[in-house]
Amino acid sequence: MTSAFTGAGADYSEKIPNNVDLREDRRLQRALESWQPNFLNWWDSMGPTLPTRDVYLRTAVNVGREGWAHFDHVPMRDYRWGIFLAERDTDRRIGFGQHLGEPAWQQVPGEYRAELRRLIVIQGDTEPASVEQQRNLGATAPSLYDLRNLFQVNVEEGRHLWAMVYLLHAYFGRDGREEAEELLRRNSGSAESPRILGAFNEETPDWLSFFMFTYFTDRDGKYQLGTLKESAFDPLSRTCEFMLKEEAHHMMVGTTGVDRVVERTAQLMVEHDTDDPAPQGAIPLSVIQKYLNFHYSVSLDLFGGETSTNVANYYTAGLKGRWSEDRRKDDHKLTGDAIKVDALIDGEVAQNEVSALLGLNTDLRREYIADCQSGVNRWNKILESAGLPQRLKLPHIAFNRKVGAFAGIEASPDGEILSADEWQQRVGAWLPTDVDKTHVRSLMQPVHERGKIAAWIAPPRNGINGKPFDYDYVHLT
Ligand SMILES: [Fe+2]
Ligand SMILES: [Fe+2]
Repeated sequence: MTSAFTGAGADYSEKIPNNVDLREDRRLQRALESWQPNFLNWWDSMGPTLPTRDVYLRTAVNVGREGWAHFDHVPMRDYRWGIFLAERDTDRRIGFGQHLGEPAWQQVPGEYRAELRRLIVIQGDTEPASVEQQRNLGATAPSLYDLRNLFQVNVEEGRHLWAMVYLLHAYFGRDGREEAEELLRRNSGSAESPRILGAFNEETPDWLSFFMFTYFTDRDGKYQLGTLKESAFDPLSRTCEFMLKEEAHHMMVGTTGVDRVVERTAQLMVEHDTDDPAPQGAIPLSVIQKYLNFHYSVSLDLFGGETSTNVANYYTAGLKGRWSEDRRKDDHKLTGDAIKVDALIDGEVAQNEVSALLGLNTDLRREYIADCQSGVNRWNKILESAGLPQRLKLPHIAFNRKVGAFAGIEASPDGEILSADEWQQRVGAWLPTDVDKTHVRSLMQPVHERGKIAAWIAPPRNGINGKPFDYDYVHLT
């Protein structure tokens, strides 16, 4: 390959770039090479629809601390989707559960095979799903900078699919290969074969949704990967560790994307001394709040029920740990510990004490909620420095839930429990209505001209890889 890649950790002379010595295992190499055209067919038919000549993309070339990425203009289809695992720690020990302190597994133990495969498939299913959800957004990008970020997220989600498919092929034999095919066969929003998780079947029809999705839903991914990074199954742990590195960019796109929408709205509110800057071409704060309510609540559902015996078993077995497992000051077995989880008791929102193992979903969801709050604080600072009294806020945990203790009730964003009728009457004030969506969509006029930006969003403070905002990030055809 080009000189830029020589000496790097990954082997780019191979059809499938990798740092797992794929050439040493001809069977596996052949199996993955025969999956590759199926992946490319999927990319062609379900990936980004906007035709481009090339895009200024980051490609992973190493996994080490210093310099793991290479930036260049590449045709998107020629992006080198590869297999990268974080460096192996040969002394790694299992950090929790009944196998605490034993050496990490380099192979899948027979008794955990089905569970591990399931965890990998569920994670793997979300990766291509988001590419499918976002496929039409290029046509309405607010700037070339944003367009480039969208495509970067898309190619990396494609690579995350590769990461999971590698594990399926390498460690799960024939049923692993079948699962890899299924990952390409299911499609977001499909009536016959939808993606596994609800939030990944919702559409991402506009850029406000995209930023909310990358803030709230990709962040769920970050937390899931964080628990899998702790896994006793070392190849899974190392895979997820490296995925988290790429995921940081997706978080940045969401965080700063919402920043910039809020900033622009605040600016026009002040300039025109109005609460409703829609006539000036901005997205009103009330609409931003509704989008936030929607994406946050569907993302909370991704963490599952408040209690789960499956997840308790995964933890005890060593398959899936907690967020920041090594920073927790307890015995990492949790057999005698308890946790308070949210519950519906006599029709009221309340809390219930359960064993810490049973409440692990709640533990992870709470870490996630605290992280989400930090984004809201940041957006509120933007409003504050603009001199505006309005604030954004996370809705109550019971609001708009379809999974868990509050799935059967309706609650307002303040946590007031409502009858079905009341909910119907008031939901339009809390979740995006057709009118809101139509307004947002009407603002989504493409700006594909270098250095220009749409009126509903502020330009970014920094470009990509030290390049200015007006850099030619994307060449259209
Ligand atoms: Fe991902
Ligand atoms: Fe992501």
